[in-house]
Amino acid sequence: MLKGGIIGCGFFAANHLAAWQLIDGAAIVAVCDQDPARARAAGAAGDGARVFDDAATMLASEALDFVDIITTAPSHRPLVELAARHRVPVICQKPFAPTLDDARAMVDACAQAGVPLMVHENFRWQSPLMAVKNIVSSGEIGEPAYARISFRHAYDIYTNQPYLKTEPQLAIMDLGIHLLDLARYFLGEATRLHCRTQRVNPAVAGEDCVTILLDHAGGAVSLVDFSFFTKLEPDPFPQTLVRIEGTKGTVELLAGYHLRVSGPGWSREEDVEPAVPAFGAKPWHNIQESVVNIQRHWIECLQNDREPATSGADNLKTIDLVFRAYESAATGRAS
Ligand SMILES: NC(=O)c1ccc[n+]([C@@H]2O[C@H](COP(=O)([O-])OP(=O)(O)OC[C@H]3O[C@@H](n4cnc5c(N)ncnc54)[C@H](O)[C@@H]3O)[C@@H](O)[C@H]2O)c1
Repeated sequence: MLKGGIIGCGFFAANHLAAWQLIDGAAIVAVCDQDPARARAAGAAGDGARVFDDAATMLASEALDFVDIITTAPSHRPLVELAARHRVPVICQKPFAPTLDDARAMVDACAQAGVPLMVHENFRWQSPLMAVKNIVSSGEIGEPAYARISFRHAYDIYTNQPYLKTEPQLAIMDLGIHLLDLARYFLGEATRLHCRTQRVNPAVAGEDCVTILLDHAGGAVSLVDFSFFTKLEPDPFPQTLVRIEGTKGTVELLAGYHLRVSGPGWSREEDVEPAVPAFGAKPWHNIQESVVNIQRHWIECLQNDREPATSGADNLKTIDLVFRAYESAATGRAS
């Protein structure tokens, strides 16, 4: 049984904690939050885990096989470096880091310590998006030439995550990061991008509506667009809608988890809505299922000495696109 410790017991940690309980081969034995009340609440939910309000104390006193960091980005580098100093494998939530230098330093620290590092980049672990990827990989739609990856809604994200309201870098850092990772997942590495941002909701500090055009190595083009202020009914939150056109056909992930594959004279359709995990509820089941999937992947990688799909090194390419998107939006030029 691999023994894990959690650092950060806020809003999203509830999903991690519940998911760990479904995963064979892992048990959370320690939880930590600098807010002692949050740490105690997580400890009570986590089957008798020991409770800490200081991560250094937890790492010094517990023999852990991994730590799962679920804090916001400013604390990621010191906490990942702390885990590396203790030679403890580490999962870090997205956004990986507030700067590319920090992200590189975290990858280097773990490489030098010889410990695995995975970024909790869970969107590519959503089963409807994995179904799209399987169709692309199977060759059924031929060589992809164009993709649109879209996430537009007006769900009130600010009640659960009040810190988002005052973030000067909002939608690209919080959500675009997932969608840019999906663009890499579906079409391969991006060589160039052009980004346009808007702040439509006057009550928030950062951009809440973004359009990004990417060139991919090999010639495909993708359009990644997302908004936190799109008024429509039914609101598809938190679904990612996808359309990928290839040389033989098109795959679409439509609202309601409706998968459609078609070409000249043929089409087929499938319901790919994920099951609601035992701890979950709609409309969050899509995200909650992906948390179980990525955490299970981490344990399988640790057990079999394999590199996680969203390792720190892999995620440098995703977060690089995030910073290039901000640069392009600021300069008005491609990056
Ligand atoms: N992958 C997803 O689908 C998804 C969804 C929501 C949030 N997130 C990410 O999860 C992260 C956490 O988000 P949240 O909404 O749960 O934030 P939150 O503010 O609700 O919780 C973070 C917790 O970390 C604690 N903390 C901060 N620094 C600490 C430190 N040095 N030591 C111990 N505890 C510390 C805080 O006290 C707080 O309780 C963010 O980076 C966010 O982007 C990811």
